[in-house]
Amino acid sequence: MRNLLNITDLTTGEIDELITVAEDIIANPEKYQDVCRRKKLATLFFEPSTRTRLSFEAAMLDLGGNVLGFSEASSSSTSKGETVGDTIRVVCGYADIIAMRHPKEGAPYAAAQVATKPIINAGDGGHNHPTQTLTDLLTIHRERGSFENFTIGFCGDLKFGRTVHSLVSALARYTGIHFVFISPEELKLPRYIIDNTLDKQHLSYEETNSLEEAMPRLDMLYMTRVQRERFFNEADYIRLKDTYILDPEKLEAAKPDLCILHPLPRVNEISVEVDNDPRARYFAQAENGKFIRMALIMKLLGLKA
Ligand code: NCD
Repeated sequence: MRNLLNITDLTTGEIDELITVAEDIIANPEKYQDVCRRKKLATLFFEPSTRTRLSFEAAMLDLGGNVLGFSEASSSSTSKGETVGDTIRVVCGYADIIAMRHPKEGAPYAAAQVATKPIINAGDGGHNHPTQTLTDLLTIHRERGSFENFTIGFCGDLKFGRTVHSLVSALARYTGIHFVFISPEELKLPRYIIDNTLDKQHLSYEETNSLEEAMPRLDMLYMTRVQRERFFNEADYIRLKDTYILDPEKLEAAKPDLCILHPLPRVNEISVEVDNDPRARYFAQAENGKFIRMALIMKLLGLKA
C-alpha cells in the first residue's frame, strides 16, 4: 500500500506517469468512467477547503466511484475529543482510500501509521500540500511542455504557504530552474527548505522583497495568499496582507509569455482585472486539479483504464 504524504514520496518517473495519465484523461474521459466502480474515497477535512475537497470528490465520481466524508472538524467526533488515529482506524473500515486535510503539521503521517488504506495528504498546516503540487506540475507541463529551463517567482507568504514548500521540493529535482523568492522579511521561505533543499542541492535562487524588480525576468509567477489562519497575531496579518497586489500596471514590465499561477483562494493579491489577461492561468490550474487527482487515485488503488 502506498500513501502520498509528501511530494518526494513520488519519484520523478512516477510524476511523469501521473501527468501522462492525467493528459490522457483530459483527451479521453470516457475511457476512465468506470475504473473505480464500487470503490469509495473518504474526504476527511478538519480544515476549510473548496477546490481540494471538491476536486477530489469530482475525481472519484468521474472514475465511477463513490465518496463520503466530512468537511469540518466540528461535524465529526473530533469535536468530542476523538484522536486522528481513532478516526482513521474507523474510516479505513468504510472506505478504500482517504484524502485528509488537517491544521496540524504531520497529522497525515500519524494517520498513515495506523491506516490500512492509502492516505493522501490534502494539506497539513503550514507544512505540505502534495496534491496541489501535482496540480501545479500538470499546469506547468500543459503550459510549457517540460519542467526545465525557466525562472519562477514565488510571491507572498512563503513562510506559511504549504503549496510553495511542496512545489519548491518538487521542482528542485529538475534542471535549469532559477527560483526567485519574493516576500516581506517576516514571511520568507523557512530556513529548513533553504538548507535541506536549495543549498543542499546547489540550486540557483535569490530572495528579494520587490515584485517590480523581479517581474521582467520571470517566466512563471506563483502568487500566494497571506495565510491569516497561521498567524499568531492579527495585527501582523493586517500589516502584511496587502504587501503585494498584482495588477495590470505591474504586468506591463512582465514577459509577454509569462504564466501566472495561484493555488487559490485569492484574497487581494491579484486584482480581478488581471483575470482577463491571457497570462492568467490560475482558473485553468484549478481545473487541472481534478484530472491529476483522478490519476493519483488510480495509481494508489493500483487500477488502470
Ligand atoms: C491552498 C491551501 O489550502 O494551502 N489552497 C488550495 O488547496 N488550493 C492555498 C491557500 O489556502 O492559500
